[in-house]
Amino acid sequence: MTNKYSVTLLPGDGIGPEIMAVTVDVLKVIAQQCDLEFSFQEALIGGAAIDATDTPLPTETIEKCRQSDAVLLAAIGGYKWDNLPREKRPETGLLGIRAALGLFANLRPATILPQLIDASSLKKEVVEGVDIMVVRELTGGIYFGQPKGIFTSETGEKRGINTMAYTVSEIDRIAKVAFETAQKRKGKLCSVDKANVLDVSQLWRDRLNAMASQYPDVELTHMYVDNAAMQLVRNPKQFDTIVTGNLFGDILSDAAAMLTGSIGMLPSASLGSDRPGLFEPVHGSAPDIAGQDKANPLAQVLSAAMMLRYGLNEPLAADKIEQAVLKVLDLGYRTGDIMSEGCQAVGCQGMGEALLKVL
Ligand code: IPM
Ligand code: MG
Repeated sequence: MTNKYSVTLLPGDGIGPEIMAVTVDVLKVIAQQCDLEFSFQEALIGGAAIDATDTPLPTETIEKCRQSDAVLLAAIGGYKWDNLPREKRPETGLLGIRAALGLFANLRPATILPQLIDASSLKKEVVEGVDIMVVRELTGGIYFGQPKGIFTSETGEKRGINTMAYTVSEIDRIAKVAFETAQKRKGKLCSVDKANVLDVSQLWRDRLNAMASQYPDVELTHMYVDNAAMQLVRNPKQFDTIVTGNLFGDILSDAAAMLTGSIGMLPSASLGSDRPGLFEPVHGSAPDIAGQDKANPLAQVLSAAMMLRYGLNEPLAADKIEQAVLKVLDLGYRTGDIMSEGCQAVGCQGMGEALLKVL
């Protein structure tokens, strides 16, 4: 029996459309090989949506996403839209779709591939074997807490406010995802907070501790975020699964990503309690290289693999994509961001062709 899935594509801005095109080609081949059927529909988000509809997240996009089995997003943003008021910025569209779909759990793996070890800026012995999963809370914390805004006080001075807040239920649901993720990995969970200063972090830590007894097979530790940033570059191998709030997760997942040599390799999955999940590379829209056939499409392709594994429960198809990526790297194909001596330089399309050949 053929499993059928509707997938909404959000190519977005900058390099988004190029890396999405490569990924769709890969998915079409995978569909044939694994007896799957995808119906793809495109929708607008970010700058592309602002230009066409004057809003970064049209209602039509939300509707299309809600009606699909999974959402594949490329990247949003660019210099052109940087000075618009906040409600009209591309980033507001991304935060909006995460909130609209209730995607509270963001999984960001950072795995060192032996093929790319020379691309890391850290010493080989420090990064060899690193395999970290950052579980980032995605719809709460300081990104969404109220009050927020820029207000003028009685003295006439302006004051900017954001609020870092978590309720017990928000903490518990992300903690559950994190404990279960750690169970499927090496059973080590490090919760990152700032409980030495922030009350919201104290509640976070208390809930993690309270829930730990339900997961006797997981070893829970805690770390302050400043130390975690340091430990990630000092000795990243100590980490297995990391769970943290929205802002700390934003920062630490970029740091963890760079251990692997290039943020251009890393996918992510954003999940709620139901379908659809949203799958996107960790990197941004790279407007400086957009349209030049220089982008690395592999993070987007690997995001499609995460879509198959976590969003559509098609692990065999996910395996095939991941293996194809390893194979093209074994064969020496490299985009500029991961280039090293003796390898074959290719552009975005060239990398796509290499993937199709391998598949
Ligand atoms: C990310 C990005 C976004 C975030 C921005 C573009 C809103 O940095 O996905 O990590 O801060 O969540
Ligand atoms: Mg970020």
